[in-house]
Amino acid sequence: MESNNNSGYFASDFKKILVSEDEIEGIICRIADEINRDYKDKKLLVCGILKGCFIFMSDLIRKIEIPVEITFIKASSYGSSSVSAGAENIKVTVFSELENYKNYNILVVDDILDTGNTLCFLEKYLKDMGFDNINFCTFLDKPERRETDIYVKYIGKQIENEFVVGYGLDFNEKYRNMPFVAALDEKVYD
Ligand code: IMP
Ligand code: MG
Repeated sequence: MESNNNSGYFASDFKKILVSEDEIEGIICRIADEINRDYKDKKLLVCGILKGCFIFMSDLIRKIEIPVEITFIKASSYGSSSVSAGAENIKVTVFSELENYKNYNILVVDDILDTGNTLCFLEKYLKDMGFDNINFCTFLDKPERRETDIYVKYIGKQIENEFVVGYGLDFNEKYRNMPFVAALDEKVYD
């Protein structure tokens, strides 16, 4: 019988743990410190990209010690879930009247920076709406995969080009609830 103590998933689904719970805690504190310093005395709207952001963002905002408002954007690709979409395939759903926040600094939070197409698309989308002060924050970054020159100011950790799950990141909507990040074994998605 295989051990099954990773939030109900089999340990053999993963090649290795890439970011442990302890490391995650350190990353959150470091980024929150930078945000507390950079946005002191500024109006801040933190805008998470659903669904992948939800765990990272909820940990992060609880370490932010300046007044902050939050909202979400859903950026859905029309394609398959393990392949990043080109910017032309992205559909945006907003959850607040963003027009009311034009004088705010927006910090867009996502789980992972891969090709950069999603953030590039959203940067243009928010600029076209009239936002001047936009920054990005992602928990993970796979620099090898980049196809755009998006600037992400706050990055939790750079990783190799591997498909990862946990801490909000999914494969076919599974594994989001794992409290750490692991590289998924190829046998799961091949
Ligand atoms: P980008 O537009 O290529 O930068 O894609 C970013 C999105 O692709 C992320 O927000 C994730 O939803 C998804 N993604 C990219 N790499 C991974 C991964 O390794 N695991 C899970 N989702 C990923
Ligand atoms: Mg995502």
